[in-house]
Amino acid sequence: MITLGIETSCDETSICIMKDGNILSLQTFSQIDLHKVYGGVVPEIASRDHLNRVDKVAMQCLQFSGVKKTDINLIAYTSEPGLVGSLLTGILFARGLALSLGVPAISVNHILAHVFTCNLTHKVDKNFLCLLVSGGHTAIFNVKDLKSYEILGKSIDDSIGEVFDKLSKALGFGYPGGTIIESLAKFGNDGVYRFNVPLGKKDRYNFSMSGLKTEFLKIIQGLFAKHNVLHGTPYEEVVNNLSGKCNGFYSYAIDIANLCASFQKTVAMVLLDRLQNVIKDFSLNNRVFVMCGGVASNEFIRKEMDKFCSEYGMSFCVPDKHLCTDNAAMIANLGQMIYVSDAS
Ligand SMILES: Nc1ncnc2c1ncn2[C@@H]1O[C@H](COP(=O)(O)OP(=O)(O)OP(=O)(O)O)[C@@H](O)[C@H]1O
Ligand SMILES: [Mg+2]
Repeated sequence: MITLGIETSCDETSICIMKDGNILSLQTFSQIDLHKVYGGVVPEIASRDHLNRVDKVAMQCLQFSGVKKTDINLIAYTSEPGLVGSLLTGILFARGLALSLGVPAISVNHILAHVFTCNLTHKVDKNFLCLLVSGGHTAIFNVKDLKSYEILGKSIDDSIGEVFDKLSKALGFGYPGGTIIESLAKFGNDGVYRFNVPLGKKDRYNFSMSGLKTEFLKIIQGLFAKHNVLHGTPYEEVVNNLSGKCNGFYSYAIDIANLCASFQKTVAMVLLDRLQNVIKDFSLNNRVFVMCGGVASNEFIRKEMDKFCSEYGMSFCVPDKHLCTDNAAMIANLGQMIYVSDAS
């Protein structure tokens, strides 16, 4: 069975050709360069760029896969959630293509597609506990199977990816913030700054990041004042100072690196704390543990989760980094799973 997957929910135009659950070709065009000057995704720019690009990325993907257009059996596309204009571009492209080829088109929920990426990467499709940490969502799913799952905990304010992005912007760096903060954290000491871990014992399963974000922003203001830096310095300057390529700003750069490392460690602590509560209270340590979404590409968080799972005797599945952030392979995967399940 050959499935063509289409993902255009935010700022990636991604197409995948999948044969019987294996990726033949995955082409993802990221619009980051178009948006980073604004410090975040601009919906109108995103939808126009999808419109200009989606057919070209699809042609490229087909060529690379060696599959003919007429060999395609199924089209899977993201229908929700996402930016309306960006989604519409993908939906119309998918339905038009399906109509012209005379094949079914299946609409896919982007969030569930992240959750079920583990079917594609580890052949895990039932009885798993999933931590979704993406740009728009933080949630713990208890998944029985494709049709039966529940959300045990979720973000009550900003998602973790969103906080990484906002903090990077406040530091005067670019977008997406997660990779930037992770790269600076590698130079820092994660014990220098202490944050109050949110929610504590009051609410055992949900996530709240707004207090942490405020604490971080206050520390930044203090550092700007201490080093006489008005709106931060460019990322490249900070990295060059940290790697000894130039100096002058080293004491500022190391303070920022320590702050990033301390924040990243606190994020991992919050995630582990919530997971621990869920696993204990619902006796879920017999589940496979899956982590997905863009933040799941963070190496520090991956290592912490791996250690945690070893302690609990749980097997740990996390997709390769390029399958953690938005991609059409996860859409093709879930579309095919739904199609097969509906047919049986
Ligand atoms: N190495 C990293 N460390 C931490 N965060 C990261 C890293 N790489 C990417 N991110 C974060 O992941 C997010 C993007 O992930 P993803 O593509 O899954 O989100 P989204 O599609 O925008 O949101 P959603 O899937 O909830 O609609 C961004 O917020 C980005 O900062
Ligand atoms: Mg996503």
